[in-house]
Amino acid sequence: DAIDDELDLGSVVPPQRRTSKLGIVGAGAVGSTMAYAALMRGAARTVALLDVNKQKVEAEVLDLSHGIQFMSMAEVVGSDDVSVLADCDIVVFTAGAKQRPGQSRLDLAEATISLVRNVLPGIVEVAPNATYVMVTNPVDVVTYAALQISGLPPQQLFGSGTVLDSSRLRYLIARHTGVAVQNVHAYVAGEHGDSELPLWSSASIGSVPLLEWDGIGENGPLTREVRDAMAREVVESAYRIIEGKGATNYAIALAGSRIIEAVLKDEKRILPVSSLLTDYLGISDVCLSVPTIVGSRGVAERLAVPMSSDELTGLRRSAEAVRSVARRFGF
Ligand code: LAC
Repeated sequence: DAIDDELDLGSVVPPQRRTSKLGIVGAGAVGSTMAYAALMRGAARTVALLDVNKQKVEAEVLDLSHGIQFMSMAEVVGSDDVSVLADCDIVVFTAGAKQRPGQSRLDLAEATISLVRNVLPGIVEVAPNATYVMVTNPVDVVTYAALQISGLPPQQLFGSGTVLDSSRLRYLIARHTGVAVQNVHAYVAGEHGDSELPLWSSASIGSVPLLEWDGIGENGPLTREVRDAMAREVVESAYRIIEGKGATNYAIALAGSRIIEAVLKDEKRILPVSSLLTDYLGISDVCLSVPTIVGSRGVAERLAVPMSSDELTGLRRSAEAVRSVARRFGF
């Protein structure tokens, strides 16, 4: 009768609710560890891996899938076919040539740019609305090239930049001062590479400006000598790790997972990611890391961090280092 008809809910099928999909290009040490880190943090419901090596990517998918019981519910898929990335919300690009011992990141530019040129357009075709995060080195040059190759707006494609370098610096400061790394606020800006620079003048420990920190217990102040040694150690970190184990993967994967969460959860988190700067303290037309608000639409405002004249000079020098390599490859 009428009431039964009105209440006949059998024909009402709720729409399939959309869940988040993370795509990772490259299932090597960085890409597979990043998938693991993102899954362990419950960053995405579906993780899709793309790699040219079909056997490798399928093995990584199986190995990760066997651990799903121990993490937030997720589905892991993978293929050597780009269609596996269809409709991703975010795509992280980790595929590329590995830095060999003693090799600088900028030395990888030619090989990586040609890889991006070959692979990225096909990915954008199947995932046109994704936010793109370049991780492959030299990440600043690669990000700049990828923007031109993909034709995507500069908010929608950016690079992991110095998120990793900043966490390395914070680790050193925390170790020296004896406070939790989570209470150290310090950014490394510029190139993710040899010309990067710590922004000491705006750093703080708790609410104490870092340059006014006079130490606790036997841990003394952060003298100029201590800070210079830390800055050198941050630049040298990757070289040292590559010498010892052939590649870096854990910290870059965790840095990548932090960026993934900022995008997929629309966190508006301030991160030193590498993006196309336009008149940032007079710097334009180069991809470089400065503290930036990151959310679901990618990069938003870049923060005009107060800098000393030395820091501003260092940032301009870093911009020139990145720009000169990009120019060498026609960008
Ligand atoms: C590093 C690589 C990701 O710095 O460039 O470990």
